[in-house]
Amino acid sequence: MPKHTFKLNGKQISVDAEDNVRLLWVLRDLLGVTGPKYGCALEVCKSCTSHINGKAFNPCSVQVKDIEPTDEVTTIEGLPATVGKDLHPMQEAWLKYDVAQCGYCQPGQIMAAVAKVKQKGGALTDADFDEIRNICRCGTYARIREAINQGASRM
Ligand code: FES
Ligand code: FES
Repeated sequence: MPKHTFKLNGKQISVDAEDNVRLLWVLRDLLGVTGPKYGCALEVCKSCTSHINGKAFNPCSVQVKDIEPTDEVTTIEGLPATVGKDLHPMQEAWLKYDVAQCGYCQPGQIMAAVAKVKQKGGALTDADFDEIRNICRCGTYARIREAINQGASRM
């Protein structure tokens, strides 16, 4: 079976998997990294949102063969280490505003929020918020926006 190597949450890892297995299943089933959630596998729900080289992406829609050895994949598990703390400022804001309901979409929401704030270089406009397409079936969107505003001010 082919071996694939890439950087995951700060460590270079290797994993044996068929080339066409999508990264979400490599992360969850082979590497035990379950923060990225499986919702649709169609790049629609965004519950698996993680970062590749600092940008948001959906590992449900990327085959593991397309991840390069130099690529840095960060999941919610590795987010705090990117700022050298126990929690990322966006996670602290999430707690302050008690955002989560069932929680299923929330790792993806936080990863999308951090990537969007980095991309825009600070506070988000209404148009920026509209570009975040992560679905929350519990309808926590109002609290998500409050938390992103707070988190962005501390990033
Ligand atoms: S599971 Fe990846 S976008 Fe829905
Ligand atoms: S908190 Fe339940 S789906 Fe978002």
